[in-house]
Amino acid sequence: MKVAVVGATGLVGTVMLKVLEERNFPLTELIPVASEKSVGKEITFKGKKFPIVSMDTAIGMRPDIALFSAGGNTSLEHAPRFKEAGTTVIDNSSAWRMDPTVKLIVPEVNAHELSIDNKIIANPNCSTIQMVVVLKPLHDKYKIKRVVVSTYQSVTGTGVKAVEQLMNERKGIDGPKAYPYEIDLNVLPHIDVFMENGYTKEEMKMVKETNKIMSDDSIKVTATTVRIPVMGGHSESVNIEFENDFDLAEVRSILEESPGIIVVDDVANLKYPMPKDAHEKDEVFVGRIRRDESAPKALNLWIVADNLRKGAATNAVQIAEYLIQKELV
Ligand SMILES: NC(=O)c1ccc[n+]([C@@H]2O[C@H](COP(=O)([O-])OP(=O)(O)OC[C@H]3O[C@@H](n4cnc5c(N)ncnc54)[C@H](OP(=O)(O)O)[C@@H]3O)[C@@H](O)[C@H]2O)c1
Repeated sequence: MKVAVVGATGLVGTVMLKVLEERNFPLTELIPVASEKSVGKEITFKGKKFPIVSMDTAIGMRPDIALFSAGGNTSLEHAPRFKEAGTTVIDNSSAWRMDPTVKLIVPEVNAHELSIDNKIIANPNCSTIQMVVVLKPLHDKYKIKRVVVSTYQSVTGTGVKAVEQLMNERKGIDGPKAYPYEIDLNVLPHIDVFMENGYTKEEMKMVKETNKIMSDDSIKVTATTVRIPVMGGHSESVNIEFENDFDLAEVRSILEESPGIIVVDDVANLKYPMPKDAHEKDEVFVGRIRRDESAPKALNLWIVADNLRKGAATNAVQIAEYLIQKELV
């Protein structure tokens, strides 16, 4: 299995390499790819050094799988070229997610949709992934009518430049800016660009991607996405209104038994999910499970996950593992 990691020097790409290594992914050849400025530099994988190659060199090597995390435009331009060379592309950018011919996959929810014909597969937005992992088992049992979500998102979701901005601000250094305002000691109700309807693109991604992944347009979703000066992962306050009533103990046990979820919900002992605890973990953490006392058949949850792991790298690697296991690549 020849695997290209496109964007290997970036935040997601670096975690991708770590996840491939940790999970002992069955690769025989690793092809790290980045922009022209990085070609010739080396990355270390399983104790061995690998030179970073250009996009053209990588395509010429005809990898079986290419894990892309190099931005939307790079993906739009180059994913079809890998596809032409017979490579299956798993893309982390938003470029292909809403293309009706492309599957948008969270393995715990809809890996069964994949077939051998899917040569470009999209990884959803980080905030959407961690939410749908939790929504899916609850939807199967109680049928979700409406979701109201507010996010508290880590600066690592913006990439290397944003982490540098936060660190520079902490040290009083005036450096390059990833955000229009200071992020340290601040909260920005603004992720991605604003759209005509007053929502941000990130908010609309959470709406549309949830419907696509869950294959159910009847689920109403409304989102407010917010950047906070945190590094470990994204947090979400999620209010869910169901068609059918639920029992809180049953909700807890459904979540405990669902794949990829860890319930941390013991307020008597001050246990609840936090980004510091989710950092470098592959699971989605759920807590503060409580009935919404202002509405019938409604539930409040707090969901946390490492956006670079389950929100990006781990989800992509899980898709690749599924393709191999089912012989779809
Ligand atoms: N951060 C997250 O939580 C997250 C989650 C889900 C999806 N994503 C998506 O994943 C992608 C990467 O995000 P990131 O946070 O890792 O960004 P990042 O830290 O800025 O890294 C970007 C990577 O892309 C490479 N790259 C840029 N232009 C390229 C080109 N023309 N050809 C080849 N490689 C190129 C860069 O290489 P150089 O080092 O050579 O510049 C670098 O390796 C984005 O599309 C983002 O939307 C991010």
